[in-house]
Amino acid sequence: MIDQPDYYAHPTAVLDDGCRVGAGCRIWHFTHISAGAVLGEACSLGQNVFVADGVTLGRNVKVQNNVSLYAGVQCADDVFLGPSVVFTNVKNPRSAVPRRGDAHYLPTVLEHGVTVGANSTIVCGLRLGCYAFVGAGSVVTHDVPAFALVYGNPARQRGWMSAHGHQLHFTADGHAVCPESGAQYQLHPDKKSVALMNQESEVPNASIPNS
Ligand SMILES: CC(C)(COP(=O)(O)OP(=O)(O)OC[C@H]1O[C@@H](n2cnc3c(N)ncnc32)[C@H](O)[C@@H]1OP(=O)(O)O)[C@@H](O)C(=O)NCCC(=O)NCCS
Repeated sequence: MIDQPDYYAHPTAVLDDGCRVGAGCRIWHFTHISAGAVLGEACSLGQNVFVADGVTLGRNVKVQNNVSLYAGVQCADDVFLGPSVVFTNVKNPRSAVPRRGDAHYLPTVLEHGVTVGANSTIVCGLRLGCYAFVGAGSVVTHDVPAFALVYGNPARQRGWMSAHGHQLHFTADGHAVCPESGAQYQLHPDKKSVALMNQESEVPNASIPNS
């Protein structure tokens, strides 16, 4: 008897020998998973997605159509990548100058719960903090703090976003409540970081730092 995989891959998907695909993953048309890629449980990869050797995805990562995840990209649990998001991994490519291999690739790290909106570009070598939210069509050129909302080209911080994806409006003493979950957030006095005060009400089972 042949073991059935505990994930679904459409017949047109290409899964190279040696890739690791977690239970419950769904992999749609024409998507290619390279040999050394690791996908956590319950990920969803849309149509025409490419996952390079060495890329790791956590649990429940959702990747919409036409996204290429190049070597150096790491996504923690619950990351959402909108359609046609673009990652880069070489900062100064030249066709005539070979820059292949890990020594040339700058890592890009997306922490727990990050959302990247449709058609955004993430320049390599950056870290997007947990639950950072990148608006559609942005070009991200700097690290993004946890819970920050950024958009535009270049992407600038425009506010703060709850783990449920609602803009946070802080009182004078730096307190905000997510309108959907009721979770409470505290803005640091320097206004450069936000902490989630009652984590369990907002993100059950999640392990996220109070940054
Ligand atoms: C960033 C975002 C969450 C903001 O939503 P919002 O809080 O409802 O903001 P609003 O629509 O009220 O817009 C507020 C202002 O920001 C501007 N704005 C909003 N999103 C923007 C973006 N991505 N880029 C540039 N400007 C943007 C609006 O034009 C508006 O400016 P104005 O006041 O001068 O008219 C939303 O616009 C977005 O980009 N969501 C991502 C959607 C996506 O990619 N989904 C993928 C899966 S389908």
